[in-house]
Amino acid sequence: MKWWKEGIIYQIYPRSFFDSSGNGIGDLNGISKKLHYIKSLGVDMVWICPFYKSPNKDNGYDISDYKDISKIFGDLNTFDTLLKKMHSLGLKLIMDLVVNHTSDKHPWFKKARKSRKSKFHDYYIWKDGEKDKKPNNWKSVFSGSAWKWNEQTKEYFLHLYTKNQPDLNWENPTVRKEVYSIIDFWLSKGVDGIRMDVISLISKRLDFKNIPNNMIFIDVMEKYYANGPRVHEYIKEMNKKVLSKYDIVTIGEGPGINLNNGLDYVNEDENELNMIFHFDHLTMDFGKEGKYDPIPFDFIKFKKIFSNWDKLFSKRGWNSIFLGNHDFSRIVSRFGNDNEFHEESSKLLATLLMTLRGTPSLYQGDEIGMTNVDYSNISFYDDVETINAWKEAIDNKKNMKKFFEAIQKQSRDNARTPMQWDNKKNAGFSKVKPWIKVNDNYKKINVKNQEKDLDSILNYYKLLIKLRKENSTLVYGKYEDLGPMHTKIFSYKRWDENDVFIIHLNFSNCSVKINSNEIKDYKLVISNYTFAKKSYNLNPWEARIYKLIK
Ligand code: NOJ
Repeated sequence: MKWWKEGIIYQIYPRSFFDSSGNGIGDLNGISKKLHYIKSLGVDMVWICPFYKSPNKDNGYDISDYKDISKIFGDLNTFDTLLKKMHSLGLKLIMDLVVNHTSDKHPWFKKARKSRKSKFHDYYIWKDGEKDKKPNNWKSVFSGSAWKWNEQTKEYFLHLYTKNQPDLNWENPTVRKEVYSIIDFWLSKGVDGIRMDVISLISKRLDFKNIPNNMIFIDVMEKYYANGPRVHEYIKEMNKKVLSKYDIVTIGEGPGINLNNGLDYVNEDENELNMIFHFDHLTMDFGKEGKYDPIPFDFIKFKKIFSNWDKLFSKRGWNSIFLGNHDFSRIVSRFGNDNEFHEESSKLLATLLMTLRGTPSLYQGDEIGMTNVDYSNISFYDDVETINAWKEAIDNKKNMKKFFEAIQKQSRDNARTPMQWDNKKNAGFSKVKPWIKVNDNYKKINVKNQEKDLDSILNYYKLLIKLRKENSTLVYGKYEDLGPMHTKIFSYKRWDENDVFIIHLNFSNCSVKINSNEIKDYKLVISNYTFAKKSYNLNPWEARIYKLIK
């Protein structure tokens, strides 16, 4: 039994959480001010996205100093105060570690790009070539080639993300040592865990083979960018040299990680990571050309993904459960109905999140049912990934009306609009104009309204979190899908020697009958409809949790 198995993670995107300094950008002191709110949810761990020194080309995922804090967020003192306050409230802090790449403004890269003779040159991945002839056809995840020409040394460097995020060369043992020293710096301050950004990408396939034309993005990720030959050797080394010295939780972000290789990262016998974030359920609607070429949502497949991953970790390893984060659209807009069943479907998704086996991560704003944003044109968007994709679509003469619709659906900015605290100006997030436009629905959807309303999405989350905490069966118990082929309902059983639960989730706009025999000996524990008790019909987007009467 481990604290991180029983706990619940709350994820914060710091620039959109709460602005205490009045510059339109959320900050660490802002998080400090809202700790009582976070505590009131009943969560145990708080993962904060990067707040290190950074030119912010990719909102902090481009780091220029790993041992300092970006001025827009605070300084090392603000950090120490935040950590102390969190600990005094019994909250644990998970930091984001971004070591597949640095910023191009990191002193290592600045020196590396000046001369081939610099000792920092080998910190990055370089390839000879000619100015107009790229080393291979690899594409950046954020559009365009993954190679950028460096005039001073007359060679290319690799960047799997923006051109301002050069990939580190993990083959170089000095790079690895530097990374372990960074980890040690934060852990020795008392940080309780690490979420590791794109950790599956750190080992490169050194033959840098061309990718066959027409290969879909997910396959490219798995077979070319992620799961390189030395990835497990590196993670094991990191574990041995630094992670194992602390009682922490580690979660690897895993693009390219799937059912075939997932266990390799988290098998307890191998001493690597505690958990991974896989993306099977979040990329299942990506079409041939990726996220901006969406295909219809397949509910049967969605359920199967959860069942398969549960099975994978049923004997070894441990699952992490999440439905969205700062890189995907809002969960209620994506998997629910953010219109006429906004409240019901938000609560249903909360029920799913809190009743599966694994450690749940709740992303800021989902606890009040924040929705995708309705920006009218591209000028409102900020995210480098969205903007690059937009420019590429123009170059490729795409149908821009259709492409904009895809952006409205899939842009990462959907999940990055400021947290909606109240119905005052800027949703109570900041006294000045925020860095990105607030979602217009903040007058209706906000924390203050929901704190007052006992039936709100927020209070429903609190009840569910409490229920999970009081019933270890919901944490550790076995899982079985009771109707994998049902086209509207997700029903599953969670059980162990203490208790049995049945969970019914109606993922549809119509009412659907459930099997009365199945729940004959059960009592209703919670539902998102108050009048649900005796009916065998599930209302649209109704969620029910039943418990076996003993
Ligand atoms: C994954 C992060 O979650 C995302 O926000 C970032 O852009 C990429 N990794 C690159 O660091």
